[in-house]
Amino acid sequence: MSVMKKIMIFGAASAIASETAKCFAKEGADLFLVDLNLDRLNTVKNDILVTGGKANIEVMAFDATNFEGHNDLINSAIEKMGGLDALLIAHGTLPSQEKLNQNPKDIVREFNINGLSVISLASFAANYFEEKKSGCIAAISSVAGDRGRQSNYIYGSAKGSISIFMSGLRNRLSKSGVNVLTIKPGFVNTPMTVDMPKNLLYASPQKVGELIFKAMKSGKDIAYTPGFWRLVMFIIRHIPEGIFKKLSL
Ligand SMILES: NC(=O)c1ccc[n+]([C@@H]2O[C@H](COP(=O)([O-])OP(=O)(O)OC[C@H]3O[C@@H](n4cnc5c(N)ncnc54)[C@H](OP(=O)(O)O)[C@@H]3O)[C@@H](O)[C@H]2O)c1
Repeated sequence: MSVMKKIMIFGAASAIASETAKCFAKEGADLFLVDLNLDRLNTVKNDILVTGGKANIEVMAFDATNFEGHNDLINSAIEKMGGLDALLIAHGTLPSQEKLNQNPKDIVREFNINGLSVISLASFAANYFEEKKSGCIAAISSVAGDRGRQSNYIYGSAKGSISIFMSGLRNRLSKSGVNVLTIKPGFVNTPMTVDMPKNLLYASPQKVGELIFKAMKSGKDIAYTPGFWRLVMFIIRHIPEGIFKKLSL
């Protein structure tokens, strides 16, 4: 288990990543929390401090699609914290596929948020960690990135791009001792899925947030959260395309 004392979390006000932040704070780590909305970040910060965390917590509002600002953002976290041990990238949106079918002009924005912004942020952080020869870069992809489905294939293809990118980055950084973790949650009960009908496959954000914390500490490569999704997706990936294309998924 690695000791991680300085953690930057992008999308830190998300239901899932805020739970991971709490786990790190309980261990005494310092946090640099970034998300779109400063009020929500301050709520997360106060929650952590109220529940006993003694962490030093910096918060910063930032839009992930501000690509020009990515390098400065990573550098300011490194500077403010006196270095970084881990970066978790967790922001995202789940657009309606039907609306995107009607308005393809919004596809670029959604792909930028869910795919390219993650790839860009991780790339800037990679250069820092590669030189440092230690650390962890973790990003939340999704089981939706394992196979395209008619109900969410723009979101899924953006998440799939993260998974492929992280695989390549892992290959590059393994010789530098840097852990690159791809996180693939299944269904999680969060604001993102609030309008979706719930079933027994849904996990709580607390559970998934804790599993992410454990996966980051243990140096895993790929974490399905919860773990049973590894088997579910193994089966789904192996359904022949000729059959898969006829399913209503
Ligand atoms: N919930 C699930 O079933 C599920 C399954 C698989 C993967 N995931 C992934 O898990 C991660 C966390 O999601 P969640 O379910 O915890 O959802 P969530 O609570 O809705 O969190 C998403 C966060 O991303 C932020 N965000 C959206 N657009 C942004 C932008 N342009 N720049 C910066 N931040 C932005 C949101 O801010 P605002 O709220 O202010 O817009 C929000 O804080 C996401 O990457 C999601 O795709 C979720």
